[in-house]
Amino acid sequence: MPDLFTNCGGITSPNPFWLASAPPANSGAQIQRAFDAGWGGAVWKTLGQPIQNVSSRFGATNVRGVQGAGFNNIELITDRSLEINFAEIYDTKKKYPKHAVVVSLMVETKQEWKDLIKRSIDAGADGLELNFGCPHGMCERGMGSAVGQEPRVNQEITSWAVEFSSVPVLVKLTPNVSDIVPHGLAAKRGGAHGVSLINTIKSIIGVDIDRYVLEPRVAQLSTNGGYCGSAVKPIALHMVAALAREPKFGLPISGIGGISNWRDAVEFLLLGSSSLQVCTEVMLRGYRVVEDMIDGLEEYMRTHGFERLDQMIGKAIPSFSEWGNLDLNYETVAKIDADKCIGCHLCVVACHDGAHQCIHPVKDGKTRVPVIDESECVGCNLCKIVCPVDDCITMVQVDNGFAPSTWNEHVTQGKPLRPKKGAH
Ligand SMILES: Cc1cc2nc3c(=O)[nH]c(=O)nc-3n(C[C@H](O)[C@H](O)[C@H](O)COP(=O)(O)O)c2cc1C
Ligand code: SF4
Ligand code: SF4
Repeated sequence: MPDLFTNCGGITSPNPFWLASAPPANSGAQIQRAFDAGWGGAVWKTLGQPIQNVSSRFGATNVRGVQGAGFNNIELITDRSLEINFAEIYDTKKKYPKHAVVVSLMVETKQEWKDLIKRSIDAGADGLELNFGCPHGMCERGMGSAVGQEPRVNQEITSWAVEFSSVPVLVKLTPNVSDIVPHGLAAKRGGAHGVSLINTIKSIIGVDIDRYVLEPRVAQLSTNGGYCGSAVKPIALHMVAALAREPKFGLPISGIGGISNWRDAVEFLLLGSSSLQVCTEVMLRGYRVVEDMIDGLEEYMRTHGFERLDQMIGKAIPSFSEWGNLDLNYETVAKIDADKCIGCHLCVVACHDGAHQCIHPVKDGKTRVPVIDESECVGCNLCKIVCPVDDCITMVQVDNGFAPSTWNEHVTQGKPLRPKKGAH
């Protein structure tokens, strides 16, 4: 049985699955139910000076019948009293000593940071997460992403927290920056034990086209919110990987953003996350989603020969390089498995209008299986992406007789490139 135990910046948990700081981690009763369902840890809904929320406050994108492919909110931090939150943290930690209970914090002044950190630790927090990410409401009050977007402020507040804390400090980074690396490095300079990313992405989820008002609507107005859920996973993976491969960084990462199944979890682990946080998928489908995540991760580890998580964390990072290091002489073409093809011609349309016009219907009336003109196929993948049948189209490597050559090698050493296809 693979061991799912993890240690993220000194915060340990029986498995890497943590609730992200958000509505599913709003109270002790919820978090305790989540632990019973299998979650290994939770980051408490951000504590600070209690706020007043608006109604309504959530929105979602529905993409071709998939509800909630992306999710958006204009909610702020906890609206419950600090006294109640700390009493529930104490109760939860007492009942679940082996689970990770991380307290997320967002306040303004140095004294407030000192006070809340002391109260969090007194209540039994295993770690702290500094919320430098919220892209709405709190940033207008000088907190959240207003801190996360400014490396010097990030570093300074992180250093206060590290000074006041006797437990590990994770800095939760905002994705609303052009390059995440300087922000991760600022947290490191401040003394953080790790970082969590991503928080939500500044966004407008949609417009009520009959009322001419943005969504989610608050009377006759709305505002930008924070985007999350499955749709943001590629952005989150990129930011996690960018930090994980940065030689000057080297801190543990808690990966967040669009994790909705075990496969997503494996991807975040392979790109350097040592714990995984989930919000939207739990909001949409409940705590029970963790069961499949655990089963799937265990099965993946078994089939790939990993006994412990640390054997797989970061294993895909060396494959992330600059474009100039990719082999321009590596060549693939698409092949159709005629036995699997259902003759829908989605690939024909896609290649014809969106790629290189090299998949053709057979016009003899005997078959619906199209043919690929391999001499024109540029191996772009589009037909494989649109084909509705698993493994019906595969991309197969072609031996074109050219030795590998990257753009950088071509420019600096004059290495020859294969003739271009599809550029006529
Ligand atoms: C309704 C809602 C409220 C959130 N509240 C907080 C919060 O209080 N503190 C925080 O650090 N992040 C908050 N987040 C961000 C999540 O913790 C998480 O970073 C983000 O949703 C990405 O993860 P996901 O794609 O799994 O949802 C909130 C997200 C949502 C959807
Ligand atoms: S890989 Fe691209 S170019 Fe080749 S057949 Fe498919 S869509 Fe056309
Ligand atoms: S999309 Fe797939 S199933 Fe449909 S015709 Fe092309 S190869 Fe066959």
